[in-house]
Amino acid sequence: MSSDTDQGEQTVDGTNPSEGTADAPLAPYPPNLDPPWLHFRGLMTDLIGFGERALATRDVCRMRILGRGDQFVVGHPDHLKRALVTEREKFRKSQDFRIAFGEGLLTVEGAEWQRQREAMQPLFTRDSVLGYADGIVEQVQRRVDRWTDGQRLDLQREFTDLALDVLFATVLGRELDLDGDRRLRESAEHLHDWFQPTSYLLPEWMPTPARRRFKSAKRTLEAEAERLLDERAGDAPADPTDAEDLLSLLVGLREAGAVDSGMLTDERLRDQMVTIVFAGHDTTTTTLTFSCWALANHPEVRERFHAEIDALDGPPTVDDLDTLPVTERIVTETLRLYPPVYTLPRLTTESVVFDGYRVPEDELLGLAIRHVHRDPRFYDDPEQFRPSRWDGDLRSDLHDFAYAPFGGGPRICIGRQFALLEAKLTLATLGRQYELGWLGENDANGEPPVSPEMTLRMEPGQEFLVTER
Ligand code: HEM
Repeated sequence: MSSDTDQGEQTVDGTNPSEGTADAPLAPYPPNLDPPWLHFRGLMTDLIGFGERALATRDVCRMRILGRGDQFVVGHPDHLKRALVTEREKFRKSQDFRIAFGEGLLTVEGAEWQRQREAMQPLFTRDSVLGYADGIVEQVQRRVDRWTDGQRLDLQREFTDLALDVLFATVLGRELDLDGDRRLRESAEHLHDWFQPTSYLLPEWMPTPARRRFKSAKRTLEAEAERLLDERAGDAPADPTDAEDLLSLLVGLREAGAVDSGMLTDERLRDQMVTIVFAGHDTTTTTLTFSCWALANHPEVRERFHAEIDALDGPPTVDDLDTLPVTERIVTETLRLYPPVYTLPRLTTESVVFDGYRVPEDELLGLAIRHVHRDPRFYDDPEQFRPSRWDGDLRSDLHDFAYAPFGGGPRICIGRQFALLEAKLTLATLGRQYELGWLGENDANGEPPVSPEMTLRMEPGQEFLVTER
């Protein structure tokens, strides 16, 4: 099942990618999966379990989804590395994102991507994002100040609002109304509706309720982007590289004539802002929710966490960041077990061979990040939430793509430093005031109820108990 599988062996599905056959076709129906006509039901009812079964015997598999065609999945760090780094020219982004988000950083490719990435990168370095630390803590504080002792809270709901508060207040420079801005908040959530599995499997021209919600949400966010850009017009720094937040960078580029030169049209500016809301909102929400689930369900970790936080003099600041190793590892371990982007989609631009099996050109390939993160070849007791596993040399001993919650290679998440800072500061801020209890139901393996949508979310409506400390 590893990438160095003995290629001479007959595999369980009877194919033989053996001696001399460098690129055997891959049987589309691994026998441990449902028959193809039941694939849709398998995918709908248990997407994660379905994927796990598909990869149980090999690191590459092929599923045939009726109505959609083939979907290939690879589940070994070597394969991730090839797709993201060493052979990345053989893979491109799948079309769905482009249809949904136009020409933002997440979707564009080639020289256009390079230009956008270079323009935005300075705002997302570790040093730059440290400048947002106080703003993040302020946003967290004003929300948790409303919590009360003994309250039952749907934390995923809370964090959905909080993540947007933080994105707007920091990167876009506008503080949202705690109870208001509902339309904007709903729109940010509905951006994910484009990728609802039920719609995802249908042809893109077909209108579905989810797609209508997506389109209306996108229009609302574009109008907001337009408004913010106009409001800031004139205040832009003469040199766009002096910009302090994304909004002034974009306005600066517009003023500097980049728009006229066609490099950055008004439409692209809007796409960029919608992209940031899409890419930075749900991912952070779920990271915070699962981190809190982990704290609530692991008393020994919670104790060490509180001891660390209690040593702070007040709300966490930039100067405290290095004194929060336990908090940091809770986030690291949460992203291992519950990576928001659990499968990274790519499209092959030419035929590629994995472990002797051919994935033809122009096929959808999923990079199974969650699967790799739980592979016993790389982690002891992989299903266990154990932040202390990161205490020693694990990171340096690990295959460089056995941990990839932010993807990898040149297209690694540009917001990762921001996301890690936000997660750490949020946990530290709320942990000073409250202890978390879990009121939801875990499954037989002690796992929380998950809902794999565009990102790996917790099932809606799960409650936590917050107790004042
Ligand atoms: C825990 C939180 C986050 C996770 C797990 C995450 C994950 C990822 C992953 C896996 C990718 C790679 C996509 C690919 O290769 O196709 C990515 C790209 C990206 N992320 Fe994040 N992300 C997070 C937070 C954020 C935040 C907070 C922002 C913005 C403020 C952001 C903005 C982006 C953008 C713009 C890209 C595209 C980068 C490029 O293609 O050059 N992300 N993210």
